[in-house]
Amino acid sequence: MRVAKKIDEVRSFVRAARMRGAQVGFVPTMGALHQGHLALIRACVAQNDVSVVSIFVNPTQFGPREDFNSYPRPFEQDVALCEKEGVDLVFAPSAGEMYSPDHATYVEVEGLTAGLCGQFRPGHFRGVTTVVSKLFNIVEPDTAYFGEKDYQQLIVIKRMVADLNFPVRIVPIPTVREADGLAVSSRNLYLSARERRAAPALYRALCEGAKAAAQGASGFEVEKITRQALEKEPLFKLQYVQAVHPETLQPREDQGVPMVIAAAAYLGSTRLIDNIKVEGRS
Ligand code: PAJ
Repeated sequence: MRVAKKIDEVRSFVRAARMRGAQVGFVPTMGALHQGHLALIRACVAQNDVSVVSIFVNPTQFGPREDFNSYPRPFEQDVALCEKEGVDLVFAPSAGEMYSPDHATYVEVEGLTAGLCGQFRPGHFRGVTTVVSKLFNIVEPDTAYFGEKDYQQLIVIKRMVADLNFPVRIVPIPTVREADGLAVSSRNLYLSARERRAAPALYRALCEGAKAAAQGASGFEVEKITRQALEKEPLFKLQYVQAVHPETLQPREDQGVPMVIAAAAYLGSTRLIDNIKVEGRS
């Protein structure tokens, strides 16, 4: 396995692979790799001839009061995990390699980024779509893998790829959970023992909402049921719970399934997000 810090090295590695007729798969990450990332990496390695993983804590997607500086960076461990999974190339650029001091170009997906997390993290999705565009232009993958855990991000990336004609197929991967239902996340490391015990209440509340949705409840009703379920866990401070259409991300309000119920909540100073999809009745 190669570890490349420079863009040129990635380009020549991938181009040589493509000359041999290889299919190239790509998993963008911010490192601190866990079982969720590994599900993406395993799908990528299984479905492609050559697999590239990027590890880059992207400064442009963090707000000024967010956790960019404290974000975990266990680099050696991440590289070892990639090697074990059969990754061919890890791209781990410095911030300077990715953003020159006179960087002035951003990619912005309108509409889809306005609600849900976009409302509370201004500029976040602009940072994500900008860095993912740059990574796609550097790696030039055939296929790229994104987790449903970050559902809005997945939909926003799919829109960007369609709108800007990136020749990349986007493959969604279902959310990997701990045994108690908590979605695996790098930020779970921040939780105290007490917070960790309370954390599965978020997914439990979403499941209650999903049950009501499957029985015909409207978006409004589903939101109320989910909110009330989460309020039973006093450590949680809810930021939002919203039932939206799975593709347009428009509020479901007085409509029923299909819907994605998405929520963000704080446990102490740690912000957790999760979602659950309820398909239409067939
Ligand atoms: P990061 O949070 O490291 O996540 C990288 C990828 O792993 C994302 O596609 C995310 O949805 C997926 N993922 C995280 N936890 C998961 C889980 N429990 N189950 C399944 N997939 C999971 O998302 C980012 O990085 C960044 O925004 C990035 C796309 C790399 C751009 O900087």
